[in-house]
Amino acid sequence: MKRKNRGFVVTLDGPSGAGKSTVSKLLADSLGGLLMDTGAMYRAVALLSLESGLERPSAWANLARRLSFDVDVKSGVILVNDANLGDRLRGEQVSSMASRISQFTSVRKVLTGRQRTLGNRLSKRHPVVVEGRDIGTVVFPNSRFKFFVTAQPKVRADRRYRQLKAKGVKGISVASILREINRRDRQDSIRKVAPLRCPEDAVIVDTSKMPIPQVVLFLKNHIESKLLSV
Ligand code: DC
Repeated sequence: MKRKNRGFVVTLDGPSGAGKSTVSKLLADSLGGLLMDTGAMYRAVALLSLESGLERPSAWANLARRLSFDVDVKSGVILVNDANLGDRLRGEQVSSMASRISQFTSVRKVLTGRQRTLGNRLSKRHPVVVEGRDIGTVVFPNSRFKFFVTAQPKVRADRRYRQLKAKGVKGISVASILREINRRDRQDSIRKVAPLRCPEDAVIVDTSKMPIPQVVLFLKNHIESKLLSV
């Protein structure tokens, strides 16, 4: 590949449970690049706010301002003040709090700025797949490579159900997960700031019927053909 093409930003947006995280990670690996999971940043602010009992948007934004974010080049995980917060970011309470805090402009402003700075720094040397909800619309609107990965809600609920079952979680049903997915989609889509929306110039990929490896290959081929066409 030509030297000037070594680093670039790929934006990958879409609702939760569409296979976005898996696709982003595999795509980053197959490009020999890095993944930047922006949802993990919202989750980190949510987790630490819950742990400190912070209840006001101004306190959440202040907390976000005090945190440093980086990507661990080896594992691809987001480091918060140099620490990997791991599974603590993945609980249902944190998911719900992350969705709540992400409604506020003050919080988004801080995190959007951090995401841009980090993405720009990393993309000087590596292809960086930036995964989130507003990456192609707000954070990196000028990226040449934009994707919107989605799947039908029922398919997303079935997948989540299987994941939770495999983890041994009891007392769940596809119907209750589907209700929660619809609620969260609605909350993420109707919020006033940076709502979940497909960028006009994004390639839309529906993973409902396409196996993940095929999706990744499709995205990779798309990127490579565009790189070669310059
Ligand atoms: O992708 P995720 O489920 O880890 O994201 C957690 C929450 O953060 C989700 O409710 C949407 C929000 N989020 C956002 O508003 N903007 C982003 N760029 C990434 C995530």
